[in-house]
Amino acid sequence: MNIAVIGLGYLGATTAVALSLVGHDVIGIDPDQAKVDALRAGRVPFFEPGLDEALVEAQTTGRLRFQTEHIHTSVDVDVFLLCVGTPQSRTGLGADLRYLESSIDNLAPFLRANAIVVGKSTVPVGTAEKLKSRLAAHVSFEPYMSWNPEFLREGTALKDTLTPDRIVIGVDDPHSEALLRQMYEPMAAVNIPIVKVDSKTAELVKVAANSFLATKISFINAMAEISEQVGADAVLLAEAIGYDERIGNKFLKTGIGFGGGCLPKDIRAFQACAADLGLEQSVSFLAQVEDINLRRRRRVVDIAREELGDLTNRRVAMLGAAFKPETDDIRDSPAMAVAELLWAAGAHVVIHDPKAVENVRRMYPNVGVAESVAEAVAGADLVVVGTEWREYALADAWQLGALAKNKLVIDGRNILPYRQWQEAGWKVIALGRNLEHNPIEVLV
Ligand SMILES: NC(=O)c1ccc[n+]([C@@H]2O[C@H](COP(=O)([O-])OP(=O)(O)OC[C@H]3O[C@@H](n4cnc5c(N)ncnc54)[C@H](O)[C@@H]3O)[C@@H](O)[C@H]2O)c1
Repeated sequence: MNIAVIGLGYLGATTAVALSLVGHDVIGIDPDQAKVDALRAGRVPFFEPGLDEALVEAQTTGRLRFQTEHIHTSVDVDVFLLCVGTPQSRTGLGADLRYLESSIDNLAPFLRANAIVVGKSTVPVGTAEKLKSRLAAHVSFEPYMSWNPEFLREGTALKDTLTPDRIVIGVDDPHSEALLRQMYEPMAAVNIPIVKVDSKTAELVKVAANSFLATKISFINAMAEISEQVGADAVLLAEAIGYDERIGNKFLKTGIGFGGGCLPKDIRAFQACAADLGLEQSVSFLAQVEDINLRRRRRVVDIAREELGDLTNRRVAMLGAAFKPETDDIRDSPAMAVAELLWAAGAHVVIHDPKAVENVRRMYPNVGVAESVAEAVAGADLVVVGTEWREYALADAWQLGALAKNKLVIDGRNILPYRQWQEAGWKVIALGRNLEHNPIEVLV
């Protein structure tokens, strides 16, 4: 099939590569010239394991092209996939839909009557309907519009796109359903479940899934708050409840909480959307989910103060900037939020991250950045683990101990081999844990 992928960020670039690898002809469109130039040159403009190689492989088939705008080639397109950003609006909790609106306006002149437009971005329920009306105002026929939410996770994006747990197609007409089933035939052929729903349910599925995941993390972090107060251990608590199949052990890691370009903005947008529907109460718990999440970040600063007193001019090594490992994405990153709180308290923070340093430099031009863990830790009064990169779990506690001014580490992700660090002379404080009574190690 001929597919246009509109928006070439984490979602769009991965989708374009994956769909061309399974045999479709794909045009990727993004107004960002630098992004398009990089992709044309076979370079993914962000870090995603395996995607560079897959991009080059897809390009050698001749089935993948990149453009900054729709040109005559778009006239043959069967499926337009909307993959643009839906960030939090500057004026409230809701999603900013302007990029979706402009992509509709841009594609309209190239839309054939039997081509379908499919949204993949995460949106408030009712967006497909609104965009369909917007599109209808541009064309002389009734356009096809449906929603196909995306569940890929940064760090495993390619695998998640090629072999997702499920594909949700939100269709309101048989023609869109037929074309989407054809597009996903290579996935259906390897038994990936395809869940067919209407477009509104599809829009809701995505925000419901992200709300559930965020709630799970905040639930275990609430247990961590209580455990810290009474001297219990939330990591062992999570293990113990996780054996219950109804609860499960995934997404139950205590620490400085969730972040990234999706979960935080999605739960905020869901609250705004519910309020617009007059159903504020239905998801009012999400405000608490966010509160717990933000409290865990502040907890790190409280512990630092308890241990060091005034933080003015104290040197802190922040290990990690990305919101999670295997990505360079620092959007709404808990590690960076903790770093900002420590700056605000007067500390001199030096940041290390194996992949996200360029993004840190771009977003925080004045921040101290270290090229290695050793450089970050040298002379530090405090080390904070902010992202669960494997490199940090495997770091040499003795070598780092010889470099630090003060051997104090706050493990915000529960990844350090604590006994090793303690043997090397470090005082280890791990969020939600009682290491005195339960010195069990947790390794990534
Ligand atoms: N990143 C993820 O892991 C992930 C996972 C699932 C869903 N999503 C959702 O996917 C959407 C995109 O997320 P992302 O992380 O890829 O964002 P992103 O910011 O990385 O990329 C968005 C891209 O859209 C481009 N764009 C903006 N306006 C455009 C237009 N009119 N025409 C064409 N391109 C345009 C931008 O230049 C940018 O490259 C969001 O709704 C997000 O919630 C993201």
